[in-house]
Amino acid sequence: MQPTYLSKRVASLRPSGIRKFFDIAATMKDVISLGIGEPDFATPKPIMEAGKNSLNLGETHYTSNAGKIELRETIAGHLQTTYGITYDPGNEIIVTVGVSEALYLACTAILDPGDEVVIPTPCFVSYQAEVLLAGGVPVEVPSRYENQFAPDPADIKKAITPRTKAILIGYPNNPTGAVASRQILLEVAHIAEENDLVVISDEIYDRLVYGVKHVCFSALADARKRTILLGGFSKDYAMTGWRIGYAAAPAEFIQGLVRVHQYTVMSAPTMAQTAAVEALKVGEPYVQEMLTEYDRRRKLIVTGFNRLGLDTFEPRGAFYAFPRVSKTGMSDEVFAERLLNEEHVAVVPGISFGAGGEGFVRCSYATSYEMIEEALRRIEKFCRRYG
Ligand SMILES: Cc1ncc(COP(=O)(O)O)c(C=O)c1O
Repeated sequence: MQPTYLSKRVASLRPSGIRKFFDIAATMKDVISLGIGEPDFATPKPIMEAGKNSLNLGETHYTSNAGKIELRETIAGHLQTTYGITYDPGNEIIVTVGVSEALYLACTAILDPGDEVVIPTPCFVSYQAEVLLAGGVPVEVPSRYENQFAPDPADIKKAITPRTKAILIGYPNNPTGAVASRQILLEVAHIAEENDLVVISDEIYDRLVYGVKHVCFSALADARKRTILLGGFSKDYAMTGWRIGYAAAPAEFIQGLVRVHQYTVMSAPTMAQTAAVEALKVGEPYVQEMLTEYDRRRKLIVTGFNRLGLDTFEPRGAFYAFPRVSKTGMSDEVFAERLLNEEHVAVVPGISFGAGGEGFVRCSYATSYEMIEEALRRIEKFCRRYG
């Protein structure tokens, strides 16, 4: 074996299961991808114009490390009006390079080597990796189909040890589309309080919910003081390429996050920060428009899978469905690989998202209605072939 110059920490990271399928799909023609985790919509026009304008006005310099004060003020106003939670834009908000960076900062700022982080899974592929990179130990707590993949507070409680430092949750959830009810989140908040834990709550899909109201974790009684709330623009406003997210938390946390951010990233892209201000100011009708279309596709795909005998619970958030494929007799990985090779439809095996995902596949409906119809036709053919 070749000697490796990589640190043990980096060498131990598993390659993302998602990437492997994208690489195979990229070599094929006529692939319908239900594997994508980003909106198929372009960024709404006024937001785009604001970004261009920023460049025309010569905004080509660094901003303050924590981000433009105008954006932090707008985020604070947004959280206040949407969830009734108050954050001081002066020292309780940091603008980051997407929620990805915010996750990295949060983990790096709070974890010492060996600290455990309890993570309900299946979850976004970065959670375990960010904890490992920060020297921590991810402790996966699988959620269940029977509970519509909501986190189970009793299981979370059982996973807590004297080394536990934090709980990391993400609802609406990638990959399942699950949301967590106020009652469940209150129970999680209670566990955190009893054990003096930090809660990192990734709420990047907060606006993408269907027929339910999103519950902001830090707005729950007493939760604010121990919560690092993460939010973003990538999904709600179709701004993945702009790379803007944020963390909101009590000042001590934000000071820690800013310390790591100033030495690694300096500041998030300036013109994108200006565009993000516009998103919060004028984006609402566009969010509603995209939401209506996602909802139409959500109904199509969920009904379609259930009709084919691939049990799918009704996802109430994000833009993913999570059908059970184990009835076909194939593992999720074999199902995904054969479906891609034989019918040119890309989905992601559930196991890529951690424990509890085995036997399921993630299907994104951030692709057109017509593409989803065609994907369902191909999947039907595929399932018939395998009985
Ligand atoms: C749950 C979740 N959190 C965070 C991210 C990262 O988003 P970004 O870095 O674009 O803000 C993603 C992207 O897929 C996600 O699904």
